[in-house]
Amino acid sequence: MSSRGLFSNRLGFILAAAGSAVGLGNIWKFPFEVGLGGGAAFVVMYLIFAFLLCYPVMITEVAIGRKTQKNPVGAFKALGYNNWKFIGILGLIAGVVILSFYNVVAGWAFGYFVEMVQGNFAVGENFGSFTSDIFKVGIYSIIFMFFTAFFVSKGVSGGIEKLAKVLMPTLIVMILALVAYSFTLPHAMEGVIYYLVPDISKIEISTIGGALRQAFFSLSLGMGALITYGSYLSKKDNIISSATFITLADVGIAFIAGLMMFPFVAFNLGGDMSPVMAGEVGGPGLIFVTLPGVFQTLGSTLGMFIGSFFFLLLSFAALTSTVSLLEVPVSYMVDEFHIPRLRAVALVASFIFLFGIPSLIGNGYSEFFTSGFNIPGSADFMSFLGKLADIMLLFGGCCIVSFAAYIWKKENLHEELAQGYDGYHASFVKTFVNFTVSYVSPILLALLFVMVLLDNFFGISVF
Ligand code: PHE
Repeated sequence: MSSRGLFSNRLGFILAAAGSAVGLGNIWKFPFEVGLGGGAAFVVMYLIFAFLLCYPVMITEVAIGRKTQKNPVGAFKALGYNNWKFIGILGLIAGVVILSFYNVVAGWAFGYFVEMVQGNFAVGENFGSFTSDIFKVGIYSIIFMFFTAFFVSKGVSGGIEKLAKVLMPTLIVMILALVAYSFTLPHAMEGVIYYLVPDISKIEISTIGGALRQAFFSLSLGMGALITYGSYLSKKDNIISSATFITLADVGIAFIAGLMMFPFVAFNLGGDMSPVMAGEVGGPGLIFVTLPGVFQTLGSTLGMFIGSFFFLLLSFAALTSTVSLLEVPVSYMVDEFHIPRLRAVALVASFIFLFGIPSLIGNGYSEFFTSGFNIPGSADFMSFLGKLADIMLLFGGCCIVSFAAYIWKKENLHEELAQGYDGYHASFVKTFVNFTVSYVSPILLALLFVMVLLDNFFGISVF
């Protein structure tokens, strides 16, 4: 086993897994989803889902990974259920799909960092020309994929863990500094109120589906990323407390990202949040369109400083996630086909980059990939992939918990969870895991999967 590598300690695992969880999903996606989903009502639903539905899935994934010390496909085989390896295969595909477009957005974040350093605030108003400048964004996404590949090629303790140990604390300090700053701006409170005071009438079925998709994506669940990271975790470590920390870190950082973003938005809108409520301001462009304008009003030196700081932060957060996305197919190639790590990284990273080209050119450059799709709600290829990934994750998550509860059997799950956690069998946590993994997570995930599927791809709203 040692040839596969292990995290050097529990902190390494926790930071790497929290690094996977905390990413564009928290800082780019969460605030705009909150904006579209009706503000605080969305936040409340998100918190409920994260702890009630997602947390048990995370525990299960890590346990399967650590038990088998294998990649997501090999894990099901190693447990003796060859027929169930389809879950792992779907996970691999989901990982490839997600990384293909995630890397494009990460490339934008990195590109914006470069623009901010040069004091080019106008890039926000010209977001469309930025994303359709195929030469520029192409280079940025190649650079980003290269960084990702570099750290994955160094292995688990030598690359991924070292990266996370430096970047995660830096990220937290950076984001807190930005929150503190955003609170000093005029109209900050109007933004905070929109974000934090729930309007129950805003909870619609789409809010529920959206909050669940967001929680799942944000916690990196349903595709085996945490099976893979769990496979490098030592038997001495406590899975439950690690998962608790990772969930809290992810939810906490998403929450703080909102706390930073809404004062910025309110400042930009002069305190009137109605364009956000009406859906006129927000969406995927929230960070890329609105923020450079905010930074500009701070004057060229301060604006340049805060702006570069922000987009560097976004790039860091993205990097610890792209690394985990690439690690999944790489660990599969290394474990199952005995391909040397470096070669596996080069192969998979190049393939995913190529697979990402439609997303790269589907943001203005190619008309077909930008607006040629007739699937409800996704005219462009990238949103189509985003929706596809969402349902794959929900389906994967539902299969993973159902498998653990009814095929692998709960006793085996509990036995794995008790390793590294002395009082586990007598604890309340055991009852909670038992109940959620058997009933709450599989049933609700199955229901929500069907709902989101109908809504995303057939335009049918169930309620
Ligand atoms: N959780 C990451 C984010 O929030 C994205 C991700 C999804 C990473 C699935 C790995 C697996 O940005």
